[in-house]
Amino acid sequence: MCGIIGAIAQRDVVEILLEGLRRLEYRGYDSAGLAVVDNQGHMIRLRRLGKVNKLIEAVNNQTLHGSIGIAHTRWATHGEPSEINAHPQISENIIVVHNGIIENYKLLRKQLINKGYDFFSETDTEVVAHLVHWEQMQGGTLCEVVKRVILQVQGSYSLVIMDKRDTSILIAARSNSPLVIGCGVGENFIASDLLALLPVTRRFIYLEEGDIAEVTRRDIIIINQNGQLVKRTEIESNVEYDASNKGTYRHYIKKEIYEQPTAIRNTLTGCLKQGKILLNELNSHAETILKKIDHIQIIACGTSYHAGMVSRYWFESLAKIPCDIEIASEFRYRKSIVRKNSLLITLSQSGETADTLASLRLAKKLNYLGYLSICNVQASSLVRESDWSLITKAGIEIGVASTKAFTTQLTILLILVVKIGCLHNNIPMEIEFEIIRALQSLPNSIEQILKKDHIFKKLAEDFSNKNHVLFLGRGNQYPIAMEGALKLKEISYIHAEAYAAGELKHGPLALIDADMPVIVIAPNNELLEKLKSNIEEVRARGASLYVFADQYAGFSNSDGMKIISLPHVDEITAPIFYTIPLQLLSYNVALIKGTDVDQPRNLAKSVTVE
Ligand code: AGP
Ligand code: GLU
Repeated sequence: MCGIIGAIAQRDVVEILLEGLRRLEYRGYDSAGLAVVDNQGHMIRLRRLGKVNKLIEAVNNQTLHGSIGIAHTRWATHGEPSEINAHPQISENIIVVHNGIIENYKLLRKQLINKGYDFFSETDTEVVAHLVHWEQMQGGTLCEVVKRVILQVQGSYSLVIMDKRDTSILIAARSNSPLVIGCGVGENFIASDLLALLPVTRRFIYLEEGDIAEVTRRDIIIINQNGQLVKRTEIESNVEYDASNKGTYRHYIKKEIYEQPTAIRNTLTGCLKQGKILLNELNSHAETILKKIDHIQIIACGTSYHAGMVSRYWFESLAKIPCDIEIASEFRYRKSIVRKNSLLITLSQSGETADTLASLRLAKKLNYLGYLSICNVQASSLVRESDWSLITKAGIEIGVASTKAFTTQLTILLILVVKIGCLHNNIPMEIEFEIIRALQSLPNSIEQILKKDHIFKKLAEDFSNKNHVLFLGRGNQYPIAMEGALKLKEISYIHAEAYAAGELKHGPLALIDADMPVIVIAPNNELLEKLKSNIEEVRARGASLYVFADQYAGFSNSDGMKIISLPHVDEITAPIFYTIPLQLLSYNVALIKGTDVDQPRNLAKSVTVE
C-alpha cells in the first residue's frame, strides 16, 4: 500500500514532501522516510519507525533542504516495520521509493548478491535500487536504465527514482499501483494520490499501466509500455481536502459517523429529481445495456463487500435480477464462468483496492455486457477503467475503518436496484415512490440515533473487557452483522465474528458461554419470528444477549438479555439504519480500550497491494 511522493522544483521541497506524506498517511503508517538532495549535491535521507509525525519531528531537529526529493509512508509487505526497512531504499547514488510488491525479488536478490551487492534491508524494494544501479553502470540515461529494469521485475509497483548525481530529473514508473503527476510552473511533482499534491497544484496527469515518466522542472515526458512517446490528458481537479479539520470531534471516525445523514442526503440529491430517480452518469447506452441484463456479478473487498451483499438481497427481491457477489481476492484467481447477459459491478470506497482493480481488469477480458463501478473517489483508477460509475457523495473518508462510505454505497445501490427494476418493469411506480420516500426519511432517523450516543457509551462498558463477540443477523441484516463485527475487530481489536442466525446451530453454538456476548440485529421484518427462535437457542445456552431491536418487535429486558430499543424504520432501509448503532458501539468500546481508532494497527485505508 504505502504512499509515495516526489518533488522537483526551484524552491525547497522538504515541507511539500512532509505535507504530502501527512496526506498520504491513510495509505500506510508503520514507518516513513524521505531523501532530498541539496544545491551542493549532498543527499540526506531520514527514516523513522512509526507514523509520519515521528519523521516530521526528526526533520524539525535538523536543517534539511533540497530542491529535489522523494518520500514514503510505508505499509510493510516484505520485512517488518523498522527504520532499516523504511523507504527510500538506496544503492550508492540511486534512491528509490516503491509502492507494491516485487514478486521475483528473491531471484533478483540472489543475482545481485552474486554481482557483489550488499543488502541492508529485508524489503523487496532494495532489489530495485541495486538493479537500477547495476543497469546504470551498463550505460544509458536514467530513463533507459529504468526501462531495462522494468523488464526484469515482476509484480506490482509504482516507483519514483532519483539519482543524487543528477538533480535535474525524477523517474516515475507505474504498473498496478496508482501514480499521478502534479504539473506546476517550473516545478513538477509525483504522488500516489492527488490529495498529496493539492497544496501545490490543481493540474494532474494520471500515468497509465506500464508508463514511465521522465519528470524535470520544466517537462514531463511519458513513454508507454511499448516504448512509444505518449501524451496523457491533463485534468484540472476541484477536489477539496478538509482532512486537517476534525471539527469538534476527537477522531475522524466519529466525525464521519456523524456526517452520515449529510452524506446520504448529498448522495440522494445527486440521484433524484422531483422525487424520481435520475442517474445522469448512466447514459442512453448504459440504459440499453441495463435493460438487457439477466444477471449481476458484484465484486468488492471488506466493507464494500458487505454493502454488495446487502444489495444482492435487494437486486433479487425487488428488481428480480439474479445477483452473485464475490470477494475480489478470490474472484481474480478463480476461473469463473460468466453468466449470460451479465453486468459486472465493482464497489470500492477508494477505487484503488488492488484486488478489486485486478478483478475488473480480468473481467474486462471476459464476456460481460458492461462494467459499472460505485466509488467514492471520482479520479480513482476504478472509475477511470469502468464503462460507467456512480459516485457516492460521502466526501473524503479519512478514518481507516469505513463508515460513511458504506452507508452511502448502500444508498446508491438501492437507487440502482430501483432503476434497474424499473427498466425491467419489475418495480411498479408506487414501490419506486415508497423506496424513495424511505430513503429520504432515513437521514432524519439516523440523526435521532446519533443523538443517543450516551446509550452506546454505557453499553460499551460491557464489551471492553471481552475477548470475543458474536454478531447475529438474518436476511439482509446478516451482512450488517458482518459489518458490525468487522468494525469492532478493526477499531477495538476484539475478536468478533458474524453468523447468519440460523447457521449458529451448525457449529458456532459450541462457543457460547457467559464470556461470549452475542449481539443480535432484530428489526421488525418478516424474519423476526425465526430470529426470536434463534435468540432462544442462544439464551438457553447461557449467552449474554444484546438485542438491537425495533421498538415494536416485542422484546423486553429479561434474564441474560439486554434490549437496545431502536426507533422503527422502513424495512427496506433498515440495513442502512442498523449499521449506525453498531458503529457507535464499536467506537465507544475502542475509546475505552484506548486503541488508535483512526489508524488501527496493521491496517491502511487504501489497500493497493495484493
Ligand atoms: C473497512 O473498514 C476496511 N478498512 C476495509 O475492509 C475496506 O472496506 C476494504 O479494504 C475495501 O476498500 P475499498 O472500499 O476502498 O475498496
Ligand atoms: N513492498 C514494499 C515494502 O515492503 C512496499 C510496500 C508497500 O507498497 O506498502 O517495503
